Amino acid sequence: MKQITILGSTGSIGRNTLEVIKHFPNEFRVFGLSTNSNIRILSDQIKKFFPEVVVVRDTFKAERLKRNINNKIILLGGEDGLIELSGIKVELLVMAISGSAALFPLIKAIETQPMIALANKEALVMAGPLINQKVKETGTKIIPIDSEQSAIWQCLEDRDKSTLKKIYLTASGGPLKDIDKRDFRKISLEKVLNHPCWKMGKKITVDSATLMNKGLELFETMYLFGVDISKIDILIHPEAVIHSMVEFIDGSVLAQLSITDMRIPIQYALSYPKRLRGFLKPLNFIKIKNLTFLKPDLNKFPCLTFAYEAAKAGGTLPVVLNASNEIAVESFLKRRINFSNIPKVIEKVMKLHKNIKKPTLHDIISVHQWARKKAEEVVNNFN
Ligand SMILES: NC(=O)c1ccc[n+]([C@@H]2O[C@H](COP(=O)([O-])OP(=O)(O)OC[C@H]3O[C@@H](n4cnc5c(N)ncnc54)[C@H](OP(=O)(O)O)[C@@H]3O)[C@@H](O)[C@H]2O)c1
Repeated sequence: MKQITILGSTGSIGRNTLEVIKHFPNEFRVFGLSTNSNIRILSDQIKKFFPEVVVVRDTFKAERLKRNINNKIILLGGEDGLIELSGIKVELLVMAISGSAALFPLIKAIETQPMIALANKEALVMAGPLINQKVKETGTKIIPIDSEQSAIWQCLEDRDKSTLKKIYLTASGGPLKDIDKRDFRKISLEKVLNHPCWKMGKKITVDSATLMNKGLELFETMYLFGVDISKIDILIHPEAVIHSMVEFIDGSVLAQLSITDMRIPIQYALSYPKRLRGFLKPLNFIKIKNLTFLKPDLNKFPCLTFAYEAAKAGGTLPVVLNASNEIAVESFLKRRINFSNIPKVIEKVMKLHKNIKKPTLHDIISVHQWARKKAEEVVNNFN
């Protein structure tokens, strides 16, 4: 039985991972679980999956949970607890924490774990070259969970990289694909959170609406597969049936297709290198009828332009892109700014930044904090 730790088990990816585990009781066993503060869902997961170690990052909530769980379970609290769990070796660690909070647990996990199933993308945007260097040193295997990256990974397998011509990163276009840009200012939070194809956490759903999610995936693709940005093309594919494609120098194109359900790439990340019989409905090609592809509209979705700019520049500009986006999205979710102000916050902070070309981890953290503070100031000026 594969022993698994899930960091961020109470989120959308975390809960879907446990759904998969539930279907294969003879294949997987849960060792560790973690939440930021959602002790209600975590308690429920403890009752169903009997983990040995759990972490609640919010220490006040950790104290509350302590009174209600079996004292055989090791309960850890705070950032230190999260790092401690990341450093307990299991067969597979699933990194499903959202945002920049995943960076330090991910680094610790790379130092300790043989295999990591990676859903989080923000840590790679912040520190891709440093993470890759660590992966090289430790030999940890990183398996992508994100549907597009899983598709690319499955199409590439262990093929010779010199035969790769292009990666086509597909995007559904998000919930605002057919809405006029002039109406973005008054678009409601509810409309933005109503994604046409995927059920996901709030941050990534807003990122899908601005197309920043695809921008962050540019970095994921560059760092996970060691490819230059010039080899990555983004295609809007509203049916969201093809999760990405890889073109080889001989003109052959391989694609990975499935229904839009994260449990499919999660299941493969858990079972790899095996494939287990799926429990979801199959694709119905007769119902699909059409597969269409469009160029992304960079004028309508400037976040994608900012991501290209940051990916080409490298250094600490991607850190600024990510941090200012986190604050802008958080502010939109709290109804402090309107939807069309999200790219304005990012643009303003990126313009203020002096890029550090080869940053250390220390540089990355200080730029991250600087950019969050600047973005807060920009948000406050909108009000
Ligand atoms: N959802 C998807 O379908 C999907 C697809 C592809 C990639 N991804 C990527 O996967 C990651 C997770 O996405 P999600 O949609 O599952 O997010 P989510 O639903 O918001 O869940 C995030 C998880 O991380 C925990 N968390 C948040 N902040 C934390 C902190 N500061 N310290 C420790 N734990 C923290 C949350 O705990 P609480 O429950 O207490 O808040 C929750 O367990 C993101 O990077 C996203 O881009 C997601």
